[in-house]
Amino acid sequence: MGKCISFHSYKGGTGKTTIAANFSYLLASKGYTVYLLDLDFYAPSLYSYFNYEPKYWINDYLRNKAKLDEVMVNSNDILNHKLEGTLMLGFAKGGKEDIYQLEGSLLNDREQQVKQFRNFIAMREELLVTNDADFIIMDTSPGIRYWSINSIVISDVILLTLKMGDLDLQGTLKMIREIYGSLVEHGTICKLLLNRVSGYCVPPSNIKTEPGLMGATDSFFRMKIDKEIGKLFNKSIDVDTLLEIPCYCDIQFKEKEFLTSYEYPSHPFTGKIKNLVSTLENADY
Ligand SMILES: Nc1ncnc2c1ncn2[C@@H]1O[C@H](COP(=O)(O)OP(=O)(O)OP(=O)(O)O)[C@@H](O)[C@H]1O
Ligand SMILES: [Mg+2]
Repeated sequence: MGKCISFHSYKGGTGKTTIAANFSYLLASKGYTVYLLDLDFYAPSLYSYFNYEPKYWINDYLRNKAKLDEVMVNSNDILNHKLEGTLMLGFAKGGKEDIYQLEGSLLNDREQQVKQFRNFIAMREELLVTNDADFIIMDTSPGIRYWSINSIVISDVILLTLKMGDLDLQGTLKMIREIYGSLVEHGTICKLLLNRVSGYCVPPSNIKTEPGLMGATDSFFRMKIDKEIGKLFNKSIDVDTLLEIPCYCDIQFKEKEFLTSYEYPSHPFTGKIKNLVSTLENADY
């Protein structure tokens, strides 16, 4: 049976979509059947990594307006590279009306809400059982939003991304306490990904820096996280850090989003995400 993994974070812009897209691409390159779903209806961005606008969206499936195979797009039809495995993409539509249909209905149409959630669960089952998915990867909206919580609840593994230097540690801890904690106690695996840590960009030699400055903030931050999380859980439950990914200025300052692992297979970012692939494919969860 395949695994369902969601990427989530407290704050926006922590790297969820970038990591999810590259992770899915590299899993499919290794021969797996992967379904990458954009569930960030509030600010979808997966399409920008693939430069693609589909005919049908996940919204249509949830609202009974399209079948799953009409929604899913094979990346072979987009990328100029045949993969060893299969990467299928499901895109989200996030206009004002679309958000209202998927969330606004909460305010006054309970029946509609339940139907959409049932379709969501049916989608997971269809992908894992009928379509033999090895991995379902879900990209979510930051914070406590309706469809993010739905995604987290049906996931086997939650990867929680934090951007280094953010002041969001307290918010992340609050989410762990209020949401992840009870899921983890019932068997969901939750791991941290520290993204954009320092170390890749070295200041030019003509600029004097204080010795030990580079990386000092990161290790301090990491110690603080481990200590705070240690206080929340007993020893049998761990929400530890799975991976640290440096901040690569060449990725950050590019005008448009792009799929690094596809365009630059030897980039160190690709190497980092390959580590994530081997960690998760060898994990006993
Ligand atoms: N390790 C990294 N090094 C440099 N730039 C990065 C790194 N990870 C992500 N980025 C850049 O940071 C920006 C935000 O990343 P991304 O859109 O993946 O975050 P997100 O968590 O999905 O945001 P949102 O919450 O708004 O959906 C993007 O421009 C991306 O290219
Ligand atoms: Mg995103």
